[in-house]
Amino acid sequence: MPQILLSEGPNNGVRLLTLNRPEALNALNTALLEALSEQLDIAETDPETRALVITGSERAFAAGADINEMASRDVVGMLEDPRVQHWARIDRFVKPLIIAVNGFCLGGGCELAMRGDILIAGTNAQFGQPEINLGIMPGAGGTQRLVRAVGQSLAMQMVLTGEAISAQRALAAGLITEICQPELTIERAMAIATTIASKGPLAVQLARESVRRGADMDLAAGLRFERHAFTILAATEDRREGLNAFRNKRKPQFSGR
Ligand code: CAA
Repeated sequence: MPQILLSEGPNNGVRLLTLNRPEALNALNTALLEALSEQLDIAETDPETRALVITGSERAFAAGADINEMASRDVVGMLEDPRVQHWARIDRFVKPLIIAVNGFCLGGGCELAMRGDILIAGTNAQFGQPEINLGIMPGAGGTQRLVRAVGQSLAMQMVLTGEAISAQRALAAGLITEICQPELTIERAMAIATTIASKGPLAVQLARESVRRGADMDLAAGLRFERHAFTILAATEDRREGLNAFRNKRKPQFSGR
């Protein structure tokens, strides 16, 4: 049986994961989310992996939760759904996560993409939460993360009509950071990830955490968290190295210490 999740690298500190269920447009069934969780465990404990890129195929990043699998679950099945743990695993991942989207990015696919730190999309990408067409609603963060990313009016329109938006619209709305030709999407995401992987990993981790946590805090609490994180970095060798390298006009060699 072909692997449903391909893993490459790390190369230059970056690991690439490719969702690979082309026959179902990368629909996120339990097996695929479980494989993703396992790969995140590996990436998190591997010191050589400093950033992760997740992508799909040119036709689909992911067309949502697997509808066939979902149809077999009643309310008890939904309460016991093992996929909830896998979603939580992705939320706990501590390294930078870059998402490279081509084609359909719908439902759970969009919910996965929105868990990324930086989203890059091909011109052919379509983002949507079409669950309403199935008589259900987003259940893996769609109503919460989308509103934070694009604001209430557009989020409401997408969630209540089920209509997808183009890559161009997603860029204007702030859901993604860049658009490129579909064949260049992975390359561009890898380049961004490689740049991040060349920085001090402790600084990256704390800066990322500060941005992410701050989004869920009031400003005063966010500023306090930022100051604590900034202060902790004063104890690192990487800080010494970064400041020394600047003063000696050389490139820093960060060790993650
Ligand atoms: N689950 C399971 N299989 C899916 C799927 C999904 N989410 N999306 C597509 N597929 C399958 C299709 O059934 C089809 O399989 P067969 O060839 O065996 O019939 C194959 O992928 C190709 O799809 P289409 O023939 O439909 O391709 P298309 O180009 O005509 O249409 C599409 C593409 C518009 C994305 C359409 O497939 C579609 O609407 N898919 C469903 C999208 C959706 O509703 N996603 C939300 C799921 S619910 C969810 O995600 C809940 C959550 O938040 C947790």
